[in-house]
Amino acid sequence: MSQSAFAIEQFSDLESSSCEEKIRQIKHAMGNRLVVLGHHYQRDEVFQHADITGDSLKLSRLASATDAEYIVFCGVHFMAEVADILSSPGQTVILPDMAAGCAMADMANLVNVERCWKELGQVLNPDERVTPVTYINSAADLKAFCGRHGGIVCTSTNARDILQWSFDRREKVLFFPDQHLGRNTAYRMGIPLEQMVVWDFNLPMGGLTPQQIKDARLILWKGHCSVHQMFKPEQADRFREKYPNGKVIAHPECSFEVCQTADEVGSTEYIIETIRRSPRGSQWLVGTELNLVNRLREQFKEEGKEIFFMSPMICMCSTMFRIDPQHLLWALENLLHDHPVNRIRVPEGIASEARLSLERMFSV
Ligand code: 13P
Ligand code: SF4
Repeated sequence: MSQSAFAIEQFSDLESSSCEEKIRQIKHAMGNRLVVLGHHYQRDEVFQHADITGDSLKLSRLASATDAEYIVFCGVHFMAEVADILSSPGQTVILPDMAAGCAMADMANLVNVERCWKELGQVLNPDERVTPVTYINSAADLKAFCGRHGGIVCTSTNARDILQWSFDRREKVLFFPDQHLGRNTAYRMGIPLEQMVVWDFNLPMGGLTPQQIKDARLILWKGHCSVHQMFKPEQADRFREKYPNGKVIAHPECSFEVCQTADEVGSTEYIIETIRRSPRGSQWLVGTELNLVNRLREQFKEEGKEIFFMSPMICMCSTMFRIDPQHLLWALENLLHDHPVNRIRVPEGIASEARLSLERMFSV
């Protein structure tokens, strides 16, 4: 690990407001040597500094299009890995806080996925009959696994097209780590629930019988996002009682029941665009991360749109929240002194196979 010219401790006690001006000054001084990317779930104090904002698909596309020397990713670890995989050799990707991971991504790891592949091999030949599909919310070595085994990456925006691509090649799909995105997407494509099974990575053979594996079209990894798991269909029922003309919109990481009751289901970018295009005075119940919902509420209140958060509990993505103005300033101050800290570097052996599965995704 590189020694930092400035230690994080020098920044930890700063008020967020005093970080703000300094961040602006450094960004101005570095000009187009630096690009700051921000995911929609970032808190406002960080999000305001992003040059490019978006969902996972948009950010991964744009990360590969920028020619800035430094890409500072205000998001989570897997996003910064994708940026590194797609960036050019002279570019450096920085994640301001290395603890900004994704709890869902951590629910699948290479050991478990390789064991699953091997165990599937006791029933059928997975390399001929199963396309592995990894949600972009996964570690680079799982994207590499998909690259090696004829598989592909998907995001919440393109999951349907990617599943179609996968079924066009092989009769079955192994989808990880998010069972909900897989189930919600496949069901909307007309695949019945009876043709889907859940692979429990803690159990031998995923807890399935050989017959269940043979009969299934979709094998869903037993992973989920704890933030999106908090939303319940009853919350939509209560909203509709109060606002009979209101609409419900949910991220596809929500449960099957929530997505079934929602009027609209889509990625963070889709949620924003759908609300933007809705008529003045619309009322929306939104099932996704709190920072984004709060921002939408502020953004559209002048148009008389009323935006409500789906859960009565506060459910924020705590790992996205790790990126605070203090860490951002710390990372930028070090960059200004040509001393990159928290660099994300995917080893080339993994990156080249992961790139394969990402390029397949971009080609769909
Ligand atoms: P999006 O691609 O919709 O931005 O989703 C990313 C994510 O992590 C949602 O929890
Ligand atoms: Fe991961 Fe869930 Fe946070 Fe998205 S909201 S980054 S899936 S933990």
